[in-house]
Amino acid sequence: MSMPKVSVGGSSGFDVPRHVAIIMDGNGRWAAARGLPRAEGHRRGVEAVRRTVRSAGEIGIDILTLFAFSSENWSRPQSEIRDLLGLLRLYIRNDLAELNSNNVRVRIIGDRETLSPDVKRLLEEAEGLTRRNDGMTLVVAFNYGARQEITRAVRRLAEELSAGRLSSSDITAERLSQFMDAPDLPDPDLIIRTSGEQRLSNFLLWQSAYSELVFVPTFWPDFDRAALEQAIFEYSRRERRFGGLAAAGS
Ligand code: FPP
Repeated sequence: MSMPKVSVGGSSGFDVPRHVAIIMDGNGRWAAARGLPRAEGHRRGVEAVRRTVRSAGEIGIDILTLFAFSSENWSRPQSEIRDLLGLLRLYIRNDLAELNSNNVRVRIIGDRETLSPDVKRLLEEAEGLTRRNDGMTLVVAFNYGARQEITRAVRRLAEELSAGRLSSSDITAERLSQFMDAPDLPDPDLIIRTSGEQRLSNFLLWQSAYSELVFVPTFWPDFDRAALEQAIFEYSRRERRFGGLAAAGS
């Protein structure tokens, strides 16, 4: 598919989704294709994170959510888990000041309770430092699984019920939404998965009810602004009906 030579956004471009979420996949295959260790794929993956955060800000995306570490990733070999945690630590240590000076607000979703105190502290520091920023919001999904998030939400709702603060007739989809990890953020308009795999893998299952899904063949370490724009272009050609009918005359 060829893309017209227009810039994304602005009067000459096409619609920019407000919230883009990305399943960053293919670091291992990128490395294997080059005879490199998987760790090198993840290291290059962090460079793609930097590029993508910068590009998303330039394009005018309001919220960028990145799936950095899933609840299921703990089943990987210990050495790979160490690499991934190390890269996240490094990313926050090296890039937090720059994100902050670029007015980026950092948010974290996922289960924090089971994380080690130093990682928990780092995530809190990133959120705390950038709390008042009002530029792009960067949501890092860390130790995140959608079924786990929904289960946590239901548990909190049940606690409200047993404390007598809510009754069963108060339970609606909207109410349950308020117990998710980032209830104040809008659902993603566009979810991109790299590396050619076509599934959600326990990512934002509640919030993706009406998201457009775009699967791109690029391995995550090769993802760049052009690939992001291409995915947004694909999104802009979709007709979003949210269960309703097509707009008259369309
Ligand atoms: C998928 O590749 C990617 C991950 C499991 C983690 C993504 C993490 C990073 C890019 C680094 C840390 C993140 C931040 C926000 C600094 P894979 O290993 O599943 O690749 P494969 O399917 O080809 O094996």
